[in-house]
Amino acid sequence: MKTFLETISEEMGKAFEAAGYDSGLGKVTVSNRPDLCEYQCNGAMAGAKQYHKAPIMIAEEVAAAFADSPVFAKVEAVKPGFLNLTIRESFISDYLNEMREAEKFGLEHPEVPKRIILDYGGPNIAKPLHVGHMRSAVIGEAMKRIIRYHGEECIGDIHMGDWGLQMGLVITELKHRFPDLPYFAPSADGESPAYPEEAPFTVSDLEEIYPAASAKSKEDEAYYKEAMENTHRLQEGDPGLHALWEKIIEVSVTDMKRNYANLNVDFDLWNGESTVQPLIPGMVEKMKEDGYAHESEGALIVDVAQESDSKEIPPCIILKSDGAALYTTTDLATILDREQQYHPDEMVYITDKRQELHFTQVFRTAEKTGIKAPATILRHIGFGTMNGKDGKPFKTRAGGVMRLESLIEDINEEMRGKIAGNDAIPEEEREATAKIIALAALKYGDLSNQASKDYIFDIERFTSFEGDTGPYILYTIVRIKSILNKYTESCGAAALPVQIREPESAQEKALMLDIAQFNAVMEDAYQNLAPHRLCAYIYQLSNDFNSFYHSTRILAEEDQEKKAGWIALLQLTKSILETVIDVLGFSAPEKM
Ligand code: ARG
Repeated sequence: MKTFLETISEEMGKAFEAAGYDSGLGKVTVSNRPDLCEYQCNGAMAGAKQYHKAPIMIAEEVAAAFADSPVFAKVEAVKPGFLNLTIRESFISDYLNEMREAEKFGLEHPEVPKRIILDYGGPNIAKPLHVGHMRSAVIGEAMKRIIRYHGEECIGDIHMGDWGLQMGLVITELKHRFPDLPYFAPSADGESPAYPEEAPFTVSDLEEIYPAASAKSKEDEAYYKEAMENTHRLQEGDPGLHALWEKIIEVSVTDMKRNYANLNVDFDLWNGESTVQPLIPGMVEKMKEDGYAHESEGALIVDVAQESDSKEIPPCIILKSDGAALYTTTDLATILDREQQYHPDEMVYITDKRQELHFTQVFRTAEKTGIKAPATILRHIGFGTMNGKDGKPFKTRAGGVMRLESLIEDINEEMRGKIAGNDAIPEEEREATAKIIALAALKYGDLSNQASKDYIFDIERFTSFEGDTGPYILYTIVRIKSILNKYTESCGAAALPVQIREPESAQEKALMLDIAQFNAVMEDAYQNLAPHRLCAYIYQLSNDFNSFYHSTRILAEEDQEKKAGWIALLQLTKSILETVIDVLGFSAPEKM
């Protein structure tokens, strides 16, 4: 289906043409003076130069060309040459009825779907998830769903940090504590000892072990060296350490899956930095052979600076002077791997914006060395920091890094308190309901900000049932559900085959005009990978629905046909709100 704006712009274009002007001038936009009109067209202003005429004259001629338009109820030329437009009631109701029948409410399918790999989440094994990882997961999940809803193929890859020094640190600490574990026994006879089926540690052990090891390594030089050595031995393929590493991964991934499930986030690929290690030697060799990588102060580097750079972009280091691969090396090998396995059209990375330089270096190297296919688009979307009310990066009360689990627990707790006295929710459903609303509060609080901006995590504001919040959107959906339920109860299933009727009030029309924007808003959210646009859309839609609700006695209406028409409008409003929140990655309860 054409978008509403396209449709009315076309109609406007015809009028320009009929009056002897270029039809391209008929571009319509949403009014920036909603008190004066619903839509406006500034084509007469734009055409004035081209046609050497006063804009108001052009505007008047165009307005006159609309003797009886099926689209516009009123077309008014106003000084200095604007066209103020009012949509005809029947046109908007027809558009909505068409939307109800159309697949995806009229959002068009791409002719050739793209294949997009989305790299998000990016947790580090053995280190607890922190709030930065939450942003990546929440934003990435919404983007994945936006891409899929648009009709493209999207492969979500978690890209775990599972290969670095943190692994060596955990292994070292385990060795100090449990030197007798078979993983550390030398396998001199070539036969590896039997390793236990069950991991000899839990995820809570790991969460305590990593910080302990990390702290020790900072004070104790010998310990640090040992950890470096264990990292190296692991990376060289020591069978015992490798078996232990696998156990660490197993335990951590199980825990991560639980954590992400609580966030309603899931991944198609559970690859990590380790996945692509086998590709590194060949990739590095080729970069050398092709003359792209060269030595500098012992390290192997690729120059990526460009003349047009406004700030200095240092070379991309491929191998350190001790021969060790880095974060960049792994990311390059991952691009190679993805190219070989999936031939994607695009790879999109969602990380903290402070990683921007890293991705500039990686992308330029991939481009220059041919690791990436010429047509593949590489895109980094950097997000801002989640701050506390003091404007500084969010911390626990004790001043430590806030763990994701505690953050979720805090918001759940706040929500439990809020709904504790709510009799509308049956006792046994309260816990589940609190979690559903809390997740909406958390995600909407994050997603409603433009991703690149920092924002303040304000638990009171995010959990409020009023204002621009997740719970407010859910409350609106629940309100609609309740009206629909009451309607079905009183009328039974014998509802008439109904259509949405022409709007009778300004509030009803405003709601209908919002609904009509759906396909354009979705398209825009996809083109810009911008979940915040969807949030802004459902906020306005909810506000306009609530104004309509407060101005209209829906269920008390005596004219049954009129009532049924409103019910159809409510159903469409609800479907659209539910679709959008699902795309954003949360859901609504039955009652609240
Ligand atoms: N593990 C990294 C971190 O915690 C994020 C990984 C992002 N993805 C990537 N392909 N580099 O910062």
